[in-house]
Amino acid sequence: MEIQRIDEIIESHQCEPSALIQILLEIQKENRWLPRAALERIGERLAVPMTRIQHIATFYKAFSLVPKGRHQVHICVGTACPVRGATRILDTVQEATGINPGETDLDLKFSLETVNCLGCCALGPVMEIDGKTHGKMGTADTADVLKRYGA
Ligand code: FES
Repeated sequence: MEIQRIDEIIESHQCEPSALIQILLEIQKENRWLPRAALERIGERLAVPMTRIQHIATFYKAFSLVPKGRHQVHICVGTACPVRGATRILDTVQEATGINPGETDLDLKFSLETVNCLGCCALGPVMEIDGKTHGKMGTADTADVLKRYGA
């Protein structure tokens, strides 16, 4: 991410230290992760210590300090979904993308995470890609959906 773009985001918040979380959220959203250079720039411009920025960036799950894929895949492994076959769905995703939960592939195409409930248990097993819910998934549907995202 260009330093100029980081500056634009910081300046859109008038370099206000109280906007730190909002600035981090905007950079995360646009860049999909928070590079060290971005955090250092924010620290400099907002006059906030790096330790505080790092604490926030590691505390909230919304932030990532490592590069993330263009497509975020979430597989529900809560109570209801495994009963309905979530494990097979997870296996299919791992096979199609070559990554395990918590990982991102080398082409930065997919990041995979397991979650405990996506709030739509009746649709289980549930897979979410880039915020879009795919319910009542079988292994063939899962492979088809992933293909549409370039797997
Ligand atoms: S347990 Fe999977 S959506 Fe609730």
